[in-house]
Amino acid sequence: MRAAVYRTYGPPEVLKIEEIERPTLKTEDTDRVLVKVQYASVTPFDYLHRRGYLPVRPSNGLLRPKDHVLGVDLAGVVEAVGSGVTRFKVGDAVFGNCFGSHAEYVSVREKGLSLLPGNLSMAEAAAMPVAALTALQALKNVAQLKPGQTVLINGAAGGVGHFAVQLARAFGAEVTAVCSTANLAWVQQLGADHMIDYRSQDFTRNGKQYDLVLDAVAKRTYASCKSSLTKTGIYITENPLKPGTQMFQVLFALLTKDKRLGLHLASSNAEDMDLLRGMVEAGKLRPVIEKTYALDQIAEAHRHVEQGHTKGKVVVEVCQN
Ligand SMILES: NC(=O)c1ccc[n+]([C@@H]2O[C@H](COP(=O)([O-])OP(=O)(O)OC[C@H]3O[C@@H](n4cnc5c(N)ncnc54)[C@H](OP(=O)(O)O)[C@@H]3O)[C@@H](O)[C@H]2O)c1
Repeated sequence: MRAAVYRTYGPPEVLKIEEIERPTLKTEDTDRVLVKVQYASVTPFDYLHRRGYLPVRPSNGLLRPKDHVLGVDLAGVVEAVGSGVTRFKVGDAVFGNCFGSHAEYVSVREKGLSLLPGNLSMAEAAAMPVAALTALQALKNVAQLKPGQTVLINGAAGGVGHFAVQLARAFGAEVTAVCSTANLAWVQQLGADHMIDYRSQDFTRNGKQYDLVLDAVAKRTYASCKSSLTKTGIYITENPLKPGTQMFQVLFALLTKDKRLGLHLASSNAEDMDLLRGMVEAGKLRPVIEKTYALDQIAEAHRHVEQGHTKGKVVVEVCQN
């Protein structure tokens, strides 16, 4: 099968299109589904792994990557199911989260998948899973957001951020979105009640306070956001492993058991995937794709996302139906 492969850490040029062995479901893969991938998204996870970002090396290989195919989101068609799979059958159109979706076939745990929402294209569905799950779980599980609460989303125009704006609005919160000048009108259309241009205003110094500051792009620190929190307000960072001040503060907050700092890593969960599908079908949530690339252009897609200014999501077409 065709796949975008990286065998050494490095710049986007280390990615090559190769023919590699197609995965199969083994007898013990009872909860797994083999999916023929049509579209996958490109995320910061992909370029951080490709670069050999320090926090991922212990699990991904100290000197060179152990797994050679990136991609954590997919939309495609079920090719085969394990003996214990109950929610899907061969031929179902699905979307979900996995490891290794920048390849024509991938083996995915059943819990990572949901049926394709009826009102989304394959490309749109591939733009959703990890970014939307991240936003959903941060708001619903970590913050336990309630109607009427005030939320500030830093990085509101990105993959996680543009879902967070829509979800927070759907949960009945009053939403303040922080992004650059060019995206102000767009995040308002997504559902933000107030917008802040980070290029001309520092939200940590404007005297306003929020029940939740969701730092979707981990560009600020907990310390700098403390004055923006109400008495019971919390700060959530989506990148607790980011080396430097953020990681140091996270360690300090863990040691001091500071409950106002929410650390969050998204996890695969069938109920949450089905919840997202329901919200899309109810018209409360919609992915936005800035650009679609062919799999052959994977290096270019990485360069795009790595610039750090993606508007919504970037997807790659892995194979045509
Ligand atoms: N915790 C988890 O499980 C989990 C899951 C997924 C992702 N993540 C992490 O979450 C972070 C965001 O992921 P993502 O996919 O949303 O990234 P992304 O789509 O690449 O984020 C790009 C966005 O960042 C915004 N941005 C850039 N500089 C900014 C600044 N100084 N202030 C505010 N916004 C700024 C840009 O808006 P403008 O163009 O308007 O500047 C752009 O829209 C990454 O660190 C990723 O590793 C964590």
